[in-house]
Amino acid sequence: MSEVVLTEVHGKVGLIRINRPDALNALNNEVVDGIGRAVDQFEADENIGCIVLTGSDKAFAAGADIGLMKSYGYMDTYKTDFITRNWERIRSARKPVIAAVSGFALGGGCEVAMMCDMIYASDTAKFGQPEIKLGIIPGAGGTQRLPRAVGKAKAMDMCLTARMIDAAEAERIGLVARVFPVDQLLDETLKSAATIASFSLPVVMMVKESVNRAYESSLNEGLLFERRTFHACFAIEDQKEGMAAFVEKRKPAFKNR
Ligand code: CAA
Repeated sequence: MSEVVLTEVHGKVGLIRINRPDALNALNNEVVDGIGRAVDQFEADENIGCIVLTGSDKAFAAGADIGLMKSYGYMDTYKTDFITRNWERIRSARKPVIAAVSGFALGGGCEVAMMCDMIYASDTAKFGQPEIKLGIIPGAGGTQRLPRAVGKAKAMDMCLTARMIDAAEAERIGLVARVFPVDQLLDETLKSAATIASFSLPVVMMVKESVNRAYESSLNEGLLFERRTFHACFAIEDQKEGMAAFVEKRKPAFKNR
């Protein structure tokens, strides 16, 4: 595993840490490929039930690496399929991925956080899409995921003015799920991830798949998907165990089957 991306295992939680402090965790290929490999590793590990992606107290990630991009021509981006080629591994993860964001989450950093299933932020977090200041538009989903998360007004405001929003505003507008004091962010995120990882993994994956379907379908199609998936739960051993444990007033012992 490359040094700009570190991994740790905390019980059933896989932690991925972006570690490029000299550049405020700016996302170059080494970082993005490292995140992809770490996601591969935790997806393949049967012991892992939830993944956390974090940076440092100062920066989750201050965006795509500007030094790298400045000399790119259109053909460099088109022929290498810049972004699509390696940035979206988080999106295809079947296990839940939580972004634990402290400090700057700007441009591609904000976009990578939004690729995760939810964002927990420290009270020092700052989110923004400042690409317009560089003469480009957001390119890793900012113009698409932001309006879906916070609505058109706030998304337009952030993408057109490049202004940063703080954690309180990000929580108020629905970009982040929870805010914690900076020194508690990682512990609280790991705690929440451990809770998720304590549930039946196939059911966790079905919840994630069903919620994500809400973004890809009409209400009728989404409800049909939910209902079929709900019905399928009754073919899972963990459903028998979960309900038996409730009736017998004991903790369930899920087997991920
Ligand atoms: N790419 C490359 N290097 C970056 C960087 C980035 N996105 N962001 C910060 N750095 C580097 C700086 O160049 C600096 O390096 P040196 O010490 O070698 O000069 C180091 O990180 C520290 O940064 P600053 O000195 O600028 O720190 P600051 O506290 O004064 O400011 C900041 C912090 C406001 C985040 C500022 O660094 C900044 O504006 N960064 C750029 C943010 C940005 O525009 N992000 C969008 C990138 S485009 C993109 O992401 C496209 C996409 O959609 C995929």
